[in-house]
Amino acid sequence: MTKSKIGGIAYYVPERAVTNHDLEKVMDTSDEWIQERTGIVERRYGVKHKETTSTMGARAAEKAIERAGISKEEVDFIIFATLSPDYYFPGCGVLLQRELGITKTEIGALDVRNQCSGFIYGLSIADQFVKSGMYKNVLLVGAEMHSMGLDFSTQGRNVTVIFGDGAGAAVIQPTEEEGEGILTTKLHSDGTYAEKLAFINPGSHGGYHFDKMGEEVDFGFSDAEFGEIFMNQHMVENGQIYPNMEGQHVFKMAVQKFPQVIMEALGAVGMATTDIDMLIPHQANLRISKFVQKVLKLQDDQVWNNIQKFGNTTAASVPIALCEAVEAGAVKKGDLVCLAAFGSGFTWGSALIRW
Ligand code: ACO
Repeated sequence: MTKSKIGGIAYYVPERAVTNHDLEKVMDTSDEWIQERTGIVERRYGVKHKETTSTMGARAAEKAIERAGISKEEVDFIIFATLSPDYYFPGCGVLLQRELGITKTEIGALDVRNQCSGFIYGLSIADQFVKSGMYKNVLLVGAEMHSMGLDFSTQGRNVTVIFGDGAGAAVIQPTEEEGEGILTTKLHSDGTYAEKLAFINPGSHGGYHFDKMGEEVDFGFSDAEFGEIFMNQHMVENGQIYPNMEGQHVFKMAVQKFPQVIMEALGAVGMATTDIDMLIPHQANLRISKFVQKVLKLQDDQVWNNIQKFGNTTAASVPIALCEAVEAGAVKKGDLVCLAAFGSGFTWGSALIRW
């Protein structure tokens, strides 16, 4: 039976490294606090007005396409996962197509809005398309330019210090080779706590929403029936145009859901944690990764962590980490690789790949 595999993988991160000490200069934070709570030492920021989420995605995609041994004209479907798109609409999928110079129109482009689990959701979609025979070369990209949408005042410090910019890309292709390819993917969601980690403005809620303490917030909107705008000066002045996160709630959910969804994937293919050669967790927080490692009884060299240098790059974090591990020779042919992610929504998922 035809399975799908990752035929080529690559990543791109902008050159500019921003250290915790750099952030100390603009907000009330400290290198000690950030390292102790998250493990992050530095993150990359793209060049304002020169780079965007889709251009960074394109740089990673070009390399992944080359590594997959195809030409860009052979890509027959694009999946783009991001929470920090170039535009509110259209999505980054078509912008990536244009940036890559793919002019043929016998191609589809889909945008995935699943935040940290976006790449795993995208992988699952690509897997179904390839297995069914509908497409042969699905280009999957996860990219973020967080630095353009963060609050660099002390008010935003709990969120801002965590995030970094970057992109990862993979080409999903069919394989007939015995024992190779994507073995299973597992996806979950629970909208109960949607606002615990959210970027709600601008939005069709039209100014009615709750702040992080569950209190109704005055967004300064009038009661006019028509002509209401999505965003107004009041929101800008009161810093209501930035992401909001209840860190501890997210943390508690993450440490439950990561092990659950990994065990679920292993169970589906009759395997155990002892079969895992490399776990690539979404890089949300080093403490979360260490906790998951402990629960699964994995050794240090069985879990890939790079949050120290890149921070949390949301949809890009899994492909960047996977690509780094492959390039370092830490993932070899025949290895069982487990991908897992949890994030805003909440949505979470896992994938098992025989490399
Ligand atoms: N520098 C200094 N102090 C800070 C900072 C900062 N950057 N941020 C918060 N603090 C302060 C707070 O104000 C608070 O002070 P107080 O005690 O005087 O009120 C204190 O530090 C503790 O704050 P907490 O938020 O309780 O800190 P916590 O230990 O929970 O760490 C963190 C915060 C790192 C955000 C953690 O909760 C976390 O990693 N959560 C999970 C994040 C996550 O996984 N996100 C999902 C992925 S992202 C996505 O899907 C888009």
